[in-house]
Amino acid sequence: MAVVVILCASTAAAAGLYISAARPPFSQGDPQFKGAGDAVHGQLIFAAGDCASCHATPGEPDRLRLGGGMALGSPFGTFRPPNISPDPVDGIGRWTAVDLANALVGGVSPEHEHYYPAFPYTSFTGMTAGDIRDLYAYLMTLPKVSGRAPPHHPSILFRIRRFVGFWKLLFFREGQSEARLSGEPIHDRGAYLVENVSHCAECHSSRNVFGAIKPDTRFAGGVDPQGTGFVPNITQQNLGKWTERDIATMLKTGDTPDHGRVGSSMADVVTNTAMLPDSDRDAIARYIKALPALPTPHP
Ligand code: HEC
Ligand code: HEC
Repeated sequence: MAVVVILCASTAAAAGLYISAARPPFSQGDPQFKGAGDAVHGQLIFAAGDCASCHATPGEPDRLRLGGGMALGSPFGTFRPPNISPDPVDGIGRWTAVDLANALVGGVSPEHEHYYPAFPYTSFTGMTAGDIRDLYAYLMTLPKVSGRAPPHHPSILFRIRRFVGFWKLLFFREGQSEARLSGEPIHDRGAYLVENVSHCAECHSSRNVFGAIKPDTRFAGGVDPQGTGFVPNITQQNLGKWTERDIATMLKTGDTPDHGRVGSSMADVVTNTAMLPDSDRDAIARYIKALPALPTPHP
């Protein structure tokens, strides 16, 4: 009897270890990431991806010094985006483009550990290999910053990174995009930018008790993860009066059609979307305008 119990327990433990393991999606030498990327194009992906909003050193006027360390509050603890400058010791200077791809697409570190989804790889997972290669080329041109971010303070449930493996089994679909494609090129370009690069839904949705986006609230608004207010519904339920032009203008200047300006974290988003070509803002606007109306969830 005891032998059976021990056997069952150890089989369950082994199965748990197996299924919660972090497996990088790409191996070093993957031909998709061979060759030098285009840093000029990578700069646009960096802007669209809003990377500096989380990784720039707080209080540092130069937003391209990516020393990390800002406090990112959440119901699951406080997370500190790390140094992703090309510093070889404290940043990602020794990384390959494949390492960056494994982080963005798989949420897996070069040490084969899971990243916390406070890093929105749940959206970046649908990024194309070409864009990641270009983003890598651009990141390597930025100033090296020394010093590391303070440690994360995750809540008890996620103190062990391995547990993120179970979270991923439930809520993460590696390499899958939420983009709804229509076949119309501008709309579909917008779908890619909104869902897989600019990660608009990561803020504009409500989350379940495990911190995963509730699918039926995607873009319908939700409590700010930092605990300050409510992020608005951006489906047609709320944006019905906004034209595509209004959305594109807001992403360039911050001005809303009712003569106000967006504030809080959206103002940071706009400093980045303002750097995109008009065609990309127009594409984002077309996709947002095409989102079906959803009721705003109750907090
Ligand atoms: C909402 C905030 C946020 C945004 C936006 C964001 N990140 Fe991060 N990033 C994080 C956090 C938090 C971590 C740490 C995750 C962990 O330790 O588990 C992280 C980790 C990383 C890492 C791993 C670094 C290491 O030392 O292991 C890389 C690389 C990275 N991010 C790159 C990017 C890039 C490139 C972008 C833009 C496309 C980006 N991040 C956008 C919050 C963010
Ligand atoms: C980091 C979180 C965050 C991300 C990412 C984000 N937003 Fe926002 N957004 C906000 C917040 C917060 C507001 C409310 C701003 C305010 O109070 O003025 C907002 C406001 C807006 C508004 C105005 C809504 C209204 O009713 O006035 C629109 C439109 C919008 N966002 C679209 C987008 C689009 C499109 C993207 C992706 C390109 C995006 N947002 C990404 C946080 C975010």
